[in-house]
Amino acid sequence: MQMPEGLPEIDLARPSAARVYDYFLGGAHNFEVDRQLAEQIAAMTPNLPATMRAGREFLRRAVRVLLDAGIDQYLDIGSGIPTVGNVHEVAQAANPKARVVYVDIDPVAVAHSRELLAGNELTGVIHADLRDPEWILAEARQLHLLDFDRPLGILLAGVVHFVPDADRPADILAALRSAAAPGSHLVVSHSTFEDQPPEMLDAQRLSARTATEITLRSRAEITGFFGDWTLLEPGVVHMELWRPDAPSEVAANPERFGAFGGVARHDRPVG
Ligand SMILES: C[S@@+](CC[C@H](N)C(=O)[O-])C[C@H]1O[C@@H](n2cnc3c(N)ncnc32)[C@H](O)[C@@H]1O
Repeated sequence: MQMPEGLPEIDLARPSAARVYDYFLGGAHNFEVDRQLAEQIAAMTPNLPATMRAGREFLRRAVRVLLDAGIDQYLDIGSGIPTVGNVHEVAQAANPKARVVYVDIDPVAVAHSRELLAGNELTGVIHADLRDPEWILAEARQLHLLDFDRPLGILLAGVVHFVPDADRPADILAALRSAAAPGSHLVVSHSTFEDQPPEMLDAQRLSARTATEITLRSRAEITGFFGDWTLLEPGVVHMELWRPDAPSEVAANPERFGAFGGVARHDRPVG
């Protein structure tokens, strides 16, 4: 199958969201241009590196819940540059037969994922754009790693906010949900403007300098991405409040990370 047109090549002159994110997480897969932008964003929003770690922690907790529900195959879109606690590590630690397909638009993220996963036959990597869900699904089917007739975990952690309204994110989510068998689960975390101070909006403006600008959305809009699937408790909440490992770990101001997270299950239609 041909690569769709419009996927970015590595551009060293322009910061990339994946590499800025990698820098915040303490990774080594970033360039000077990424570090400069990361420092600028961090100066304006000192919370941001912690926010990214909190996003990762939310994803880890969500994957554990899916593993407990028996989900043994994952489609992780916007997976980023591999770093500590990747989905396949969390999943395969609990179930060595768990399968994971990673998808990212960033060529650096894809290259590093391929390198890290070489030899892990139960994982695959796709270079693709979330805005083309049908292409992602076709590519995922070609890999023959995921069985779309069985329950699947679809993971969209910190990525849907890179899709502007003009690209119809609700339709993209609907396309992904409709490809998943009953029993499947959808995990979404997404930046929001709700309960946020003005610096957050400044950081959003800076994000326009990466190849992908962020669109902050309301809790209602983010909840809409789950469609008619059944939201697991506690619903769509500030990430830190979603099933914390220990209640004592939740800070007094869980809204400080500026992102909601939620998990929903595709229940069999009644009747
Ligand atoms: C903030 S990182 C999240 C990484 C990981 N999911 C996590 O939660 O730790 C966002 C990732 O989404 C990717 N991304 C942004 N827009 C995308 C798109 N349209 N299609 C696929 N991936 C995209 C970026 O390249 C980046 O690696």
